[in-house]
Amino acid sequence: MQKLTSQSEWIARARAVLPAAGFGNFDPGIVIASGEGSRVWDEDGREYVDYLIGSGPMLLGHGHPEVMEAVLEQLPKGMTFFANNSKGIELAEAIVEAVPCCEQVRFVASGGEADMYAIRLARAYTGRDKILKFEGGYHGMSAEAQMSLAPEARVNFPQAVPDSAGIPQSVAEQMLIAPFNDLAAVEALLQEHDDIAAIVAEPLQRIIPAEPGYLQGLRDLCDKHHVLLIFDEIVTGFRLAYGGAQERYGVIPDICTLGKIIGGGFPLAALGARADIMAHFDKAIVGADKWLMQLGTLSGNPVAAAAGLKTMEVLRRDGAYERLRDIGGRVQKMQTEALHAAGIPHQICGDATLFDIWFTDAPCRDYRSARHDDPARNATYNAALRAHGIFKSPGKLYPSLAITEADLNLTRAGVQAAVEALRA
Ligand SMILES: Cc1ncc(COP(=O)(O)O)c(C=O)c1O
Repeated sequence: MQKLTSQSEWIARARAVLPAAGFGNFDPGIVIASGEGSRVWDEDGREYVDYLIGSGPMLLGHGHPEVMEAVLEQLPKGMTFFANNSKGIELAEAIVEAVPCCEQVRFVASGGEADMYAIRLARAYTGRDKILKFEGGYHGMSAEAQMSLAPEARVNFPQAVPDSAGIPQSVAEQMLIAPFNDLAAVEALLQEHDDIAAIVAEPLQRIIPAEPGYLQGLRDLCDKHHVLLIFDEIVTGFRLAYGGAQERYGVIPDICTLGKIIGGGFPLAALGARADIMAHFDKAIVGADKWLMQLGTLSGNPVAAAAGLKTMEVLRRDGAYERLRDIGGRVQKMQTEALHAAGIPHQICGDATLFDIWFTDAPCRDYRSARHDDPARNATYNAALRAHGIFKSPGKLYPSLAITEADLNLTRAGVQAAVEALRA
């Protein structure tokens, strides 16, 4: 009989061939062997209720039968063509139908790529270079996005601080950084700088909600100063509502980026906007000077498009978002009740469809105030959840539609154990 490779052997093998022992994404101390529905299993066969769900894409759960069927139907017809294909065209139609700001979309392979092109598109459209970004806002790995994502140092606004080595100083000079949820700071920057192309924002910044009126305030300021508003909806798209955060909050950006759910677990992302903005991808309309060159080997991949289309079809069915909010609300409640009973200061931050616990009762409205959280408590709590079969990232909990009553019961037991670990 073939000997199974243990998780620790996989970890050792990873350490030899992967820098920092992993893919750069997640704790390399666990190697996932498989997933089905709401559960994942590690290489030692330990089972977990999955609230990481691939960092967001697997909203329907792993191996959803209808998504599998759509993928298996596409596979023998071809895996990638580079040329236009009907599945990609249908997916573009479905996105345009769903997402208010999108009259047209352009496909790419990852969310970070979509954000990079959204920023470039705003520059091409306005003819200006500067980008206003919020401290702590995450927009992938481009040089611009790596400015003041998770700075250790507290520099004065609007100075940009690179989070990564290898980024030229000249990029920082094109970025203006503001605190989230502070309209006066944004207004002052717009008054001072007349060369801003766009404001790029996560409408739910990581898990920090926009305060009432804030997103509309950004919209109004952008209109007043003829600056484009980009919503990064890589996470919020098709999660906060079928039409994303823009539908849920009723504020329509000029450009948005989408990823994760629209690829149904495969590498696919997109950016979308009004047709006059998207015209910059069409040399015949805007001419060579204003044309934004863009192509990618896997863009509009038919397998990813088939998975995304089927995922979206399932999400359109009656009650999907009510159910997701109900599941998320129940997971929130079981945590607050247990922490409250133990007298541990905390708050739930986020939306019922995406949230986490912060171990502070001080208000969290931007990157700096969110740092009042207690990292040691957070680490203890998350480690205890993992030890009790609850799988999540240290900064987010993603409910999925695959979660069952049995999963919620296991989650409640895991939460009780994690709260006990905090009291120990
Ligand atoms: C808000 C946001 N933007 C962009 C990205 C980057 O997407 P990707 O990892 O597909 O490049 C992420 C990834 O989590 C994200 O959360």
